[in-house]
Amino acid sequence: MSFCSGRYESCQYYPYSLCLSVLLLVTFTATAAEDPSTILSRFQQYLQINTAQPQPHYYEAAEFITSQAKSLSLESQTLEFVKGKPLILLKWPGSDPALPSILLNSHTDVVPSEHHKWTHPPFSAHLDSTTGNIFARGSQDMKCVGLQYLEAIRKLKASGFRPLRTVYLSFVPDEEIGGNDGAAKFADSDVFAKMNVGIVLDEGLPSPTDNYRAFYGERSPWWLVVKAVGAPGHGAKLYDNTAMENLLKSIETIRRFRAAQFDLVKAGLKAEGEVISVNMVFLKAGTPSPSGFVMNLQPSEAQAGFDIRLPPTADQASLERRIAEEWAPASRNMTFEFKQKVSVNDKFGRPAVTAVDSSNIWWALFEEAIIKANAKLEKPEIFPASTDARYFRERGLPAIGFSPMANTPILLHDHNEFLNKDEYLKGIDVYESIIETYASYVQHPRDNASREEL
Ligand SMILES: *[C@@H]1O[C@H](CO)[C@@H](O)[C@H](O)[C@H]1NC(C)=O
Ligand SMILES: *[C@@H]1O[C@H](CO)[C@@H](O)[C@H](O)[C@H]1NC(C)=O
Ligand SMILES: [Zn+2]
Repeated sequence: MSFCSGRYESCQYYPYSLCLSVLLLVTFTATAAEDPSTILSRFQQYLQINTAQPQPHYYEAAEFITSQAKSLSLESQTLEFVKGKPLILLKWPGSDPALPSILLNSHTDVVPSEHHKWTHPPFSAHLDSTTGNIFARGSQDMKCVGLQYLEAIRKLKASGFRPLRTVYLSFVPDEEIGGNDGAAKFADSDVFAKMNVGIVLDEGLPSPTDNYRAFYGERSPWWLVVKAVGAPGHGAKLYDNTAMENLLKSIETIRRFRAAQFDLVKAGLKAEGEVISVNMVFLKAGTPSPSGFVMNLQPSEAQAGFDIRLPPTADQASLERRIAEEWAPASRNMTFEFKQKVSVNDKFGRPAVTAVDSSNIWWALFEEAIIKANAKLEKPEIFPASTDARYFRERGLPAIGFSPMANTPILLHDHNEFLNKDEYLKGIDVYESIIETYASYVQHPRDNASREEL
């Protein structure tokens, strides 16, 4: 359309009156947007930064995010709770700083990839001109979301929108290795406490249908190791109470439990995130020999490891009893230990879930914003694995897991991870609607006592 219609920052080079009129034009013609290829190329630039664990190029990502923030006139600071692991915190100040703020969280790291199994190199961010698919590690998990937040803010700024509530963006390290040096330390910090966060948005999962998915809680990992002992003996001898027999009895019991939980999912009675999943992840037994294992000796020790995931509604005490009485009973000389055991409750002892009904204004506003953006939502779900959102829910804060990717196969951590360019662009509009709705929300006095604001 004209000089300033593309990059509004360049307005400073033109006389004030001309710029003002052009800015007004931008305001009144919603379509006077940037060329999509410019928007996509910024996404590609972010994807091209190799932030794969275990050696993410964190500073390169930090520099990129900081330069984006500068182009948007957002306040930015880099926090290093752990040396070498920068967390970038951006701020778009609201006109009423006393109101609880909005936090848009994303992680900068990605999981490693087996390069030779990819059609296009995982950090090339190759855009297929026929399909519009952009191939890159992080295209779904979750560099898309991080940049969509920024692009949505770019559009809101261009339209002249001014937030009432302060909007923060955090780009955190280390989510893919548990978040202990990232979101966990951030959520625990004085910086975070001073931010007075009212609602957190974090990652979700793609949806193969037209409808987006949203997540209001997640399952807690319990990593269990059960150990059996028994008298050793000749491999030819039949006798009771060997370590292997004792362990196998436990494995059979655990497998029956697993099958019963899985049956509920198969029958459509429960979603994947609503059952307790148990999967055996290792078996350790046998007496090593130079050619493998000694074949005529029954060993005196055997172990198995299980990755258990509990939904927030699970009865922890009852599972603990089941483990002690049936899965690793002392009567069979079995012992057990947890390598990890995350509580399903927040620090106030309540299930760490975000309400997804009218009792939670942030949920109601989220639904409203999705409709305004001409999009649809599936019934909200429990995230089957873990995300950084748990560190915020643990503190009693509402957090919604959401990655706007409809009609997209779930390729997180898989080969050839991609996101279609149109889905990416549509997602920006969705965030524009969400951020606008959240940032303009004026708390009604009658809501003062509502839990999510406390
Ligand atoms: C448990 O260990 C004791 C002592 O070694 C042994 O007598 C008993 O048979 C073992 N029981 C089982 C079920 O392995
Ligand atoms: C609600 O909060 C506002 C701002 O903190 C305060 O001015 C108002 O008096 C409160 N209303 C009630 C009913 O507590
Ligand atoms: Zn992720």
